[in-house]
Amino acid sequence: MHRSTFTLYPCSVVVVLASLAGCDPSGPSQGGEKATADLLTRADPSRGRTLIVEKGCVACHVVPGVRAPVSFVGPPLDGLRQQAYVAGRWPNNVETLVRWLQDPPAMNPETAMPNVGLTSEEAEHITAYLVTLP
Ligand code: HEC
Repeated sequence: MHRSTFTLYPCSVVVVLASLAGCDPSGPSQGGEKATADLLTRADPSRGRTLIVEKGCVACHVVPGVRAPVSFVGPPLDGLRQQAYVAGRWPNNVETLVRWLQDPPAMNPETAMPNVGLTSEEAEHITAYLVTLP
């Protein structure tokens, strides 16, 4: 009896801490959400979806909502907004994604993803599409 109360205690502490973190108005995700909202006021996700085909992204990536032959040269791009890091290294936010899309080798000279020559507007349209994916 006493023993089972003791073993349950750490779980409830974890639950309470998790809910406190979720309610913190100055939490780390706030800046990212504002930047995402700002991006979505100027960039067009449907234009981004078209660019993903036109710029050949589907040669290497599976992208939800875009019909193309399946390729796993790069990682599938679903669930990107839930990821903690872009390309396994840089904290994930829209600025980092735009920068990555414009010139991956500038951020990591060893990456297999090439610079496909996007303008910053094109990179923003594509990022807008990617962050609206489930
Ligand atoms: C020649 C193949 C190739 C092409 C073309 C390509 N990528 Fe990539 N991409 C990769 C590879 C490989 C990675 C993994 C890179 C790494 O981790 O260093 C990657 C990584 C990424 C990431 C980070 C994914 C993650 O899970 O962190 C995004 C976002 C991305 N690519 C989007 C695009 C978009 C959008 C285009 C078109 C503009 C594109 N890629 C074109 C191969 C490619």
